[in-house]
Amino acid sequence: MEALLAEARAARERAYAPYSEFRVGAALLTDDERVVPGANVESASYGLSMCAERTAVFRAASEGARRLVAVAVVASNDEPTWPCGACRQVLYEFGPDMIVISEGLGGRREERKLTELLPVAFGPADLE
Ligand code: THU
Repeated sequence: MEALLAEARAARERAYAPYSEFRVGAALLTDDERVVPGANVESASYGLSMCAERTAVFRAASEGARRLVAVAVVASNDEPTWPCGACRQVLYEFGPDMIVISEGLGGRREERKLTELLPVAFGPADLE
């Protein structure tokens, strides 16, 4: 988990967030032990901006990952922050059992199951 948080911190440094100035880094752990980072990327057309978590998920999926075990998130608040609703849904697609770890800039960490953040989720099983 230490290594995953370090990747998330490093990804945060690469965030492109000139409008909100709210930088976020994420790092995913896949079931085959790959670590895939992502950062938020904003657009002058604000609504097109993309969160760090979804950047990482789409990158991982497009590199062939299909099962996510954990995600570490480092945002720009002193205290830990949690992925937005859209990101929770996209994380669920590839990791319904995943653990979400968030670290605040103050250094405090918290861990939650994704199912605590997104209870009674809609997911791939509903389409079977
Ligand atoms: N943001 C993330 O990257 N992840 C989240 O879970 C919440 C919000 C980004 C989107 C936007 O670039 C900035 O933070 C402010 O909302």
